[in-house]
Amino acid sequence: MEKFYETTAIDYVNGAPHIGHAYEKILADVIYRHFTQRCDNTFMLTGTDEHGIKIQKTAASKGITPKQMCDENSQMFKDAWKALDFDYSKFIRTTDEQHVRVVQHIFKKLMEQGDIYKNKYTGLYCSGCEAFLSEKDLTEDGLCPDHLKKPEVVSEENYFFKLTKYKEAIANHINTHPDFIVPAFRKNEVLHQLENIEDISVSRAKSNVSWSIDVLDDPDQGIYVWIDALSNYITAIGYDVDEQTDQFKQLWPVNLHVIGKDILKFHSIYWTGILMALGLPLPQQILAHGWITIDETKMSKSLGNVISPTTLLEHFHLDKPDAMRYYMATAAPCGKDGNYSDKDFKEKVNAHLANSMGNLLNRTLSMLVKYFDGDVKPEFKIDSPLKNKAIETVKDVMHHFDYYEVQEAAQKIMLLVDEANKYVTDSEPWALAKNGEMDKCGQVLTTVLDVMCVISSLIYPYCPNIAQDMAKQLSYDLKSTKLQDIKSDNIKVGHLIDKADIHPVFLRIDSELADKSKKK
Ligand code: ME8
Ligand code: MG
Repeated sequence: MEKFYETTAIDYVNGAPHIGHAYEKILADVIYRHFTQRCDNTFMLTGTDEHGIKIQKTAASKGITPKQMCDENSQMFKDAWKALDFDYSKFIRTTDEQHVRVVQHIFKKLMEQGDIYKNKYTGLYCSGCEAFLSEKDLTEDGLCPDHLKKPEVVSEENYFFKLTKYKEAIANHINTHPDFIVPAFRKNEVLHQLENIEDISVSRAKSNVSWSIDVLDDPDQGIYVWIDALSNYITAIGYDVDEQTDQFKQLWPVNLHVIGKDILKFHSIYWTGILMALGLPLPQQILAHGWITIDETKMSKSLGNVISPTTLLEHFHLDKPDAMRYYMATAAPCGKDGNYSDKDFKEKVNAHLANSMGNLLNRTLSMLVKYFDGDVKPEFKIDSPLKNKAIETVKDVMHHFDYYEVQEAAQKIMLLVDEANKYVTDSEPWALAKNGEMDKCGQVLTTVLDVMCVISSLIYPYCPNIAQDMAKQLSYDLKSTKLQDIKSDNIKVGHLIDKADIHPVFLRIDSELADKSKKK
């Protein structure tokens, strides 16, 4: 793999980030960090989507300007992503000057080449979707199925993008590129939507939506949010209509767009059509993830069950986001919906991160100190069955990530942790020591520690802090070890660790130990 360019959806800034937004960013970051372990040239883009009627109205209801609200709320998203250790390379805001300028030129180019035309139009507009809906899209009661709100009847003169011109080419691309839409089960849904596709409105009258990017040479019209929003993926890396930066040439086409299932149509159909019109190569893959519910209920302001990611961290007194990252990233199989519950969260991270993984490292290092003063001796050879299992797991995990099966990959990692635990239980190093079989005892401990190095590499995308803490106690060079290069002999012969340097990498949530450290 030469390079890996990945993006997330850019979030609307009419409210604070919630754990649905966080789910997407964590999932994307886990995928991203995994590929940084396979490739040197990587780039991750995220940001905020700041124009449109929804933002205009929310700001008005607060008595502040849209720009003021965007500044405040965009910062909240940045703060939340920082708290989650989201390792993005660039954060774009659609109000950024450079983005605004390039979007205007994209619009102009499409107009000049006849792909955008003006037309009088009456349609049903859902501000939740920031899109016109057709009668067929609505529920029996005439509501938007996603936002359960009655769309507004809007009658305006708008600019339209000739999406129908590209309809056949889009269908052809989807059919000839079976990996384009991930997971594959969403493909037919998209092809079905495509059958009924019409030209799309790409502007709104300034008199109705003032908070939008001006159409050049037509001050009564503003560029309607989807052309504005989708273009972020190219403007952020230096696309311009007549000149592209080296960065753009190097990174485009994007390897992966990570988005929610609710906006797959915009990405797989609209965006594909726009890129075709611009004569640009198409994205390699689009991953549509499912939705996160809270206690099996849809999150909504009216139900009052919206959870903020930072509140969740505070609630459990977590100063590092690893547990939350692990839980969210493994909440659902690829593309399916997932659920969050406090009880499940606590049980899962305690069982996997503290009891199985953390404890294994802790007791193995403690035995190394107890029996060998923390020294790894040259005669401690590594036991091959468990080692082979570890190498096999690296391959399995990479294979799952090739299909963005983040939950499935984590299950393989935890199976390896279980195997290593079973190996210790079966080998009884304490009994070997008692019987004076010291080389055998040393072999067991070294084998486990060697495999723990592999585990730290594999768990790193999910739990970067825990993984680095593990690696530190193992004197293992996690940062510069590429997954494809992982071999045996990760543990160096010689003095490894002193008693004082051994500490748990993850404290059980609500355990006495955690309570004590909280009180400190
Ligand atoms: O759609 N569970 O912004 P947005 C999982 N600005 N994912 C969720 C979720 C939940 N409960 N709620 C929202 C937009 N999301 C546009 C995108 S991209 C060029 C423009 C996801 O703030 C949602 O699926 O409504 C989307 O991918 C992202 O959060 C932003 O949603
Ligand atoms: Mg939305």
